[in-house]
Amino acid sequence: MSFPKNRMRRLRSSEAMRRLVRQSSLSVDDLVYPLFVRRGEGRKDPIKSMDGCFHLSPDMVAAEAAEVASLGIPAVLLFGLPDKKDEKGSQAWAEDGVVQDSVRRIKQAVPELLVITDVCLCAYTTTGHCGVVKDGGIDNDATCQLLAKVALSHAYAGADVIAPSDMMDGRVRYIRECLEENGFCDTAIMSYSAKYASAFYGPFRDAADSAPQFGDRKSYQMDPANSDQAMQEIALDIEEGADIVMVKPALCFLDIIQRARQRFDCPIAAYFVSGEYMMINAAAKAGLIDKDAAMMEALTCIKRAGADIIITYFAKAVAKLLRT
Ligand code: PBG
Repeated sequence: MSFPKNRMRRLRSSEAMRRLVRQSSLSVDDLVYPLFVRRGEGRKDPIKSMDGCFHLSPDMVAAEAAEVASLGIPAVLLFGLPDKKDEKGSQAWAEDGVVQDSVRRIKQAVPELLVITDVCLCAYTTTGHCGVVKDGGIDNDATCQLLAKVALSHAYAGADVIAPSDMMDGRVRYIRECLEENGFCDTAIMSYSAKYASAFYGPFRDAADSAPQFGDRKSYQMDPANSDQAMQEIALDIEEGADIVMVKPALCFLDIIQRARQRFDCPIAAYFVSGEYMMINAAAKAGLIDKDAAMMEALTCIKRAGADIIITYFAKAVAKLLRT
């Protein structure tokens, strides 16, 4: 059937018609809101590099979490900034560490809110690398042992989901085995499986004080030019015990999300990262684009590509918008 019998515009003729035929839609149920925690009391300091985001002290995080839950957002993702860094990042697994402390406070105040914890060493090491440095390189297996300790300390604090973001080989297996051995068989793992060495993490590294002090992350994070390798990474993580796999960043990697969706049956998360978030904020501030419209378009397209879960600093703004 062709024109004039077929007119594609018929199904776009009104908002009701567009709603009726719409294939993808964003729901508050899909969202995860990241939070940055650091030591102190009564602190809610704006993060310079990331509009609308704050460094919260553990006593302030419960109130923030309660607000997130009241907006209907199912989960938060915690990042910690330690008081002191060392070569191995030992504050990352401290029982009284800032993330561990915050997890306990959130679970006590808002037990129904899922708490996901980022597991990595880069904010905790003096080198700013995601693993321990040996002979100028990153020692993969030694790092995995430390990551398992970090994960276990988060599980003891009450984390529902452990999210390793370091990109060491085999870390999901180390973490899963460690959790099982210690009786945490119900703790989920959301692995940053296809995490690319991206320029879009810039604002976050400022916020988390986690920039590498020498070199870059290209020996562990993926080359943005590759797609097949992402499928291998995801397959390995599922085999090693990940419950949810992630593609990160999101917008330049929609093809990876789509391929993963077609190939794997487990939930797929996409991380709409700090640089993507700030590009929209900066363009809106410059009067170049409509912020809410650009936000909704970007996030809806991530859903369309196949993501089930979207981690975004826009989560609260989206939840508010969807309510109205
Ligand atoms: C830590 C980590 C990073 C992000 C999440 N976890 C930074 C990095 O790998 O350098 C980036 C998040 C964002 O940019 O929003 N490994």
